[in-house]
Amino acid sequence: MEDQFIHTSLSDGITSVIPGIENAAPIPVLYAESLTEKEFVKNWVDKSKPCLIKGAIKHWSAMSNWKEKDYWIANSRNENVKVGAFRNFALPRPDQMEEMPFHDAVERLFAQKDDVFKISARVIAADTHVAALEKDTPGFPFLPDAGIPRKYPRKRILMYHRASSNWHFHPMDETLMCQVSGSKRITVFPPHLPEMRTVSRFLDQDRYLSGEQLDPSINVKPMTADVEEGDAMYIPPFWYHGLYPTQDEVGFTLVYCWKSPWHVMGDMSNYLLRDLYKRHPYMFKNNQLLIKSFSGYAWLRHLIWKAGQ
Ligand SMILES: [Fe+2]
Repeated sequence: MEDQFIHTSLSDGITSVIPGIENAAPIPVLYAESLTEKEFVKNWVDKSKPCLIKGAIKHWSAMSNWKEKDYWIANSRNENVKVGAFRNFALPRPDQMEEMPFHDAVERLFAQKDDVFKISARVIAADTHVAALEKDTPGFPFLPDAGIPRKYPRKRILMYHRASSNWHFHPMDETLMCQVSGSKRITVFPPHLPEMRTVSRFLDQDRYLSGEQLDPSINVKPMTADVEEGDAMYIPPFWYHGLYPTQDEVGFTLVYCWKSPWHVMGDMSNYLLRDLYKRHPYMFKNNQLLIKSFSGYAWLRHLIWKAGQ
């Protein structure tokens, strides 16, 4: 009953804004114990195709340690962090976030007093206040040599209760969304759509919040999966995705990123990729020479890759 409530209330704004989402196809499922690096990279990463990897992180000590409130307190410095008690929309008002000491935020999260609560993403790195948690996330047998990501941190932790994510895509880097605690439903759709310009403007500005609707004849070819504890969802760059929790419990997600293959960043048939180079120069430090050389080299690598397929 409670789970059904969560499902219907927190999915609103995610599923209801996309036409035809009720007919979403299942995301392909792989099993970590039989997945090789070669298969993962060749069939999924190189082709930018999303997949759900069951059991990808079941060997991580995070799976048990992070369920204990005291473990968080004992393994972190008590820095101030931003928290929010609202759903994740693309354009949150500044007054929707507040600042508080991390340990107080952890207490508040575990107490589940707020209807919705989230702590801003915590980055695991040598110099961060949660560096001690590195040992709990020892990687993936099917991805031993992932390159350093270009934009995102290697590892960041999402800590939430009932918070969902707005529709968004990652303009760079490959992502494994690892579900350490709690389950989520994810829906994704591919970047190669004739109407992508219309769809992206609509979603990036959260226009559905003001009652606007997408043309119901647009078929975004959505795919969906339930990501359960111990699973990792592979999300390629430029694939829009929306997520919401399917259980009423404290959730922890470890987002693991690595560098996209060059040919992926050179697929100029992708509207969102062209848009990245044209409209988002800040992603390249507003350096036009950097944009031209990066995109030109990536395009060349894409042509070479495509010729070899
Ligand atoms: Fe994401």
